Amino acid sequence: YTERDSLYGLMNYAKDQFKDLLFNTDDGRGIGLSYFRERGFNDRTIEKFELGYTLDQWDYLSKKALGIGYTSDLLAKAGLIVVRDDGRSYDRFRGRVIFPVHNLSGKVIAFGARILTKDKDQPKYINSPETDIYHKSHVLYGMYQAKNAIRREDFCYIVEGYTDVMSMHQAGIDNVVASSGTAFTEEQVKLIRRFSENVTVMFDGDAAGIKAALRGIDLVLKGGLNVRVVLLPDGDDPDSFSRKMPETELKQYLKEHAKDFISFKIDLLAQESGHDPIRRAEAIREIVTSISLIPDPIKRSVYIQETSTLLKIQEAVLQTELNKITLTER
Ligand code: GTP
Ligand code: MN
Ligand code: MN
Ligand code: MN
Ligand code: MN
Repeated sequence: YTERDSLYGLMNYAKDQFKDLLFNTDDGRGIGLSYFRERGFNDRTIEKFELGYTLDQWDYLSKKALGIGYTSDLLAKAGLIVVRDDGRSYDRFRGRVIFPVHNLSGKVIAFGARILTKDKDQPKYINSPETDIYHKSHVLYGMYQAKNAIRREDFCYIVEGYTDVMSMHQAGIDNVVASSGTAFTEEQVKLIRRFSENVTVMFDGDAAGIKAALRGIDLVLKGGLNVRVVLLPDGDDPDSFSRKMPETELKQYLKEHAKDFISFKIDLLAQESGHDPIRRAEAIREIVTSISLIPDPIKRSVYIQETSTLLKIQEAVLQTELNKITLTER
């Protein structure tokens, strides 16, 4: 056995404990399971994502794991305990519901844990730290549960959070992964590429969501993927939105509202800059900058044509600007 094997073993053990606590303890059922049920998650979804619960105790998990022979060194390396400066340690996840993160073969490599109280001093989510088996920048939440559907549908929805992924599955849409609230990475784009070249970014319909979507788009374009965007109504995230209508209607809505990233950016920038010529020029430059990131020259040229038509600007002008940007980037 290598240490990695032991880490996988321990993470699997922890996952089983968290599941057991959710279903077989008073707190698990009364607090954790009822939380999931109140949010509308059914047993099938809870099982599919292997959700769990941790008791609000300092050492419940570590005590149990030590009891069957796991070492505190391994518990620390797995990120399951936090070791203080004075050498004492305590369980990282306490009194929260648990979302395991799986690798492509279904092994648990990390956990996300959501708070259940309204305590503003505590972070809403606590996540596993980087470990020898968990490199956050290479992982997308839900990829294990989504990969076959992504291949089959030949595209992948990208959402923000754990519960967005789960609700989409429950609504009958399985080709969905979450960036878990952080900026997209090159490795994550490569991961998607293994299954499809098409992504549809679906972020929250608030200002922060739009910002996050825009940030994500450029990296995904750079990775050579085709990008569409669905903007949800203000105040909705994919979780809340997917509960508002039956499956067929939801699928129809998403299909109708998925805009090519260029149209999305153009609409957005047009809204923001209105008729102010200076801001309009800035906006156009921003769009051309996005186009410049696309590796395929044919696709770039198609997008320049499209932008020219939509914005009623001569193609040659846009092409000159594009050349300028690609030149300075080299
Ligand atoms: P719910 O409130 O349970 O519906 O979660 P959400 O996914 O809608 O939360 P939100 O939109 O605020 O955040 C999106 C994602 O960012 C979450 O799923 C987490 O992965 C991550 N995130 C949110 N809050 C925190 C936090 O306090 N700490 C860390 N590390 N990540 C967070
Ligand atoms: Mn949000
Ligand atoms: Mn948020
Ligand atoms: Mn959200
Ligand atoms: Mn939410």
